Amino acid sequence: MVATTVQQAQDGSVETWDALRARRNVRQFTEEPVPDEALDRILEAGRRAPSAGNWQPWDFVVVTDRAQLVDLAKVWQGAGHVAGAAAAIAIVAPDPQDEGQSALLQYDLGQATYAMTVAAADLGVGTGHAAAADQEQARAVLGFPAGHFLAYVLSVGYPSDKPLAVIERLNRRPFDAVVHRGRW
Ligand SMILES: Cc1cc2nc3c(=O)[nH]c(=O)nc-3n(C[C@H](O)[C@H](O)[C@H](O)COP(=O)(O)O)c2cc1C
Repeated sequence: MVATTVQQAQDGSVETWDALRARRNVRQFTEEPVPDEALDRILEAGRRAPSAGNWQPWDFVVVTDRAQLVDLAKVWQGAGHVAGAAAAIAIVAPDPQDEGQSALLQYDLGQATYAMTVAAADLGVGTGHAAAADQEQARAVLGFPAGHFLAYVLSVGYPSDKPLAVIERLNRRPFDAVVHRGRW
């Protein structure tokens, strides 16, 4: 099936269903900067995410300086795409106090992250996840306070391989293998 190009409204946004189906991990970006209004909308999507007891365990550090992006890319071997992104959103979280809180934290950060990726796709902006391992490097680059850690980084920018479009042939388990109705 031929991929359907995302239809954009006058303000540049697309239908939610199209944005959700067009999102993919983008790891190669053009030089084009992402406008501040677009970045702010993406961040606002994260800020609005639901969280356990509404504790909102996240702070977002936006990075657009090239040298800083290059240094941020060193936090994890799989974070190389951050170096070439137009921007990055560093998702900083409080150190969890116990295992239960850690599980909630991961769930909540996932929701905030996904909201930002779909909001970005809605604007034709690509995002790419990166985990974070080297917390000393992360703290040196981002300057977040003690008692916090860098959980993930989202690369942000316009895809250089091909524009975002609804993905028709998806590398996912089949719908009927995933969905169980009434009982497993
Ligand atoms: C929690 C999490 C961590 C990830 N870490 C990385 C990473 O460090 N580097 C990377 O290139 N991709 C990373 N990814 C991207 C996944 O590999 C990707 O989402 C998955 O292969 C599905 O592809 P898609 O997002 O294009 O649909 C991560 C994704 C998630 C959800």
